[in-house]
Amino acid sequence: MTPELKILFDRARDAQAKAYAPYSRFQVGAALRAASGAVHAGCNVENAAYPVGACAEAGAISAMLLAGDRQIAEILVIGDGPELCTPCGACRQRLREFSADTMMVHVAGPEGLRRSFSLGSLLPHSFGPDNLA
Ligand code: THU
Repeated sequence: MTPELKILFDRARDAQAKAYAPYSRFQVGAALRAASGAVHAGCNVENAAYPVGACAEAGAISAMLLAGDRQIAEILVIGDGPELCTPCGACRQRLREFSADTMMVHVAGPEGLRRSFSLGSLLPHSFGPDNLA
């Protein structure tokens, strides 16, 4: 793992440990590096009214905007279990709003990095801000 990815991994793991997921018991952490170089993290926040729950990626995007950043350079998402914790469909679209097709989405488990994807490969032929320009 590169030093830059290790920083994202550590921040995402810290966020994962703070996730509020009493219903699914599936804690997720996300850490993104903005174009400015700053790192912003988020965790999933579930709710007794299930559909109201929020994903870790949404929290990281919110933290990014609060800090004044608008462009995602790369993101790392961490979840437990044997499967890849790739962003859900809605989060792929959320990421698309602030990222190029080439933005890298790194997927990690407790042991480290598992796989990396471009956002364009996860959300091909996407609809984005340019469509409304
Ligand atoms: N979840 C995330 O936070 N991000 C993902 O990329 C996948 C799923 C959350 C939503 C829910 O709180 C829990 O994981 C189980 O779906």
